[in-house]
Amino acid sequence: MQTGRGPEGILSQEMTGKREEIIELLKTAYFMELETVMNYVSESINPDGVRAQQIKEDLAADIDEELDHARQFAARIKELYGVVPGSMDFHADQVLLQPPDHQTDVVHVIKGVIDAETKAIELYTRIIAVTEEDDPVTNDMTVAILHDEQGHRRRFEGYLKEYIAQGKASKEDLPPASRATSPEEGSAL
Ligand SMILES: [Fe+2]
Ligand SMILES: [Fe+2]
Repeated sequence: MQTGRGPEGILSQEMTGKREEIIELLKTAYFMELETVMNYVSESINPDGVRAQQIKEDLAADIDEELDHARQFAARIKELYGVVPGSMDFHADQVLLQPPDHQTDVVHVIKGVIDAETKAIELYTRIIAVTEEDDPVTNDMTVAILHDEQGHRRRFEGYLKEYIAQGKASKEDLPPASRATSPEEGSAL
């Protein structure tokens, strides 16, 4: 049970349990960002074809942003008296972001990016809820990072919609709220 918040807020002795809860979430976020960096590096290089060019350039540009997110989460772990974990604690999770069988399969890559960004959005929304009362600094930081991820996902939803219009992807591949503004499958852009 929490006995009180203490004058130092989240850095108070009384908040040790809450800090530990937040640190565990920040470690998950940190590894999620690093796995994203790993997969965005591969998918900014692997795809072939004219259509892949824009996706590759976008992912290459996003790598720096995702790495910066990882650094921010790591720094916050330390500020909360945690230890940033090493690679032996890492467990890979991004199944859908693995390279496709055919390197011209741009739709596979776009769907993988949307899935990874959705998982980040879900985790960061949870961190924001957990830190709302007691840790405004982690809360503010995560709000800004969540904004970046929402922007990333929205951009890739737009790419997928182009393929939906051409009948090469399904509306079902979009996040539910995004489907209302999507073109009919097979319709002209
Ligand atoms: Fe990120
Ligand atoms: Fe992202």
